Amino acid sequence: MAVERTLSIIKPDATKRNLTGKINAKFEDAGLRIVAQKRIQLTPAQAGVFYEVHKERPFYGELCDFMASGPVVVQVLEGEGAIAKNREVMGATNPADAAPGTVRADFAESVGENSVHGSDAADTAAQEIAYFFSGLELVG
Ligand code: CMP
Repeated sequence: MAVERTLSIIKPDATKRNLTGKINAKFEDAGLRIVAQKRIQLTPAQAGVFYEVHKERPFYGELCDFMASGPVVVQVLEGEGAIAKNREVMGATNPADAAPGTVRADFAESVGENSVHGSDAADTAAQEIAYFFSGLELVG
């Protein structure tokens, strides 16, 4: 399987509860390597650009406000099949449907405040990584 990179975001509900280390441990235990990471505060407009694909969805405004409600940790995870592996470790979007032991089953509060984001495909991973990081910041 090819080595890939994917964008991960630890969301405000998780940073507020001091869960960054516990979430990172799940990624690392699954064989994902954190090759870039920074804690930042987004504005609603910056979150809006990131989630532009959801612009027409009824929850778009709420999602942008939530993502700007506190610090987020943006990170790049690297590993064999990293995009699918990260989605496996995160669990289903709605924590009620997430498999036991996944990040969302263990930590997420609701479908909106669901602790983590992960890229869903190779093209979106490349775009999302480029939104937050320059090439010089990725240290494999
Ligand atoms: P994420 O993987 O970051 O991608 C889009 C986000 O939209 C998703 O996680 C959820 O946090 C959010 N989302 C999806 N469905 C809903 C919903 N029904 N209500 C509120 N937020 C949602």
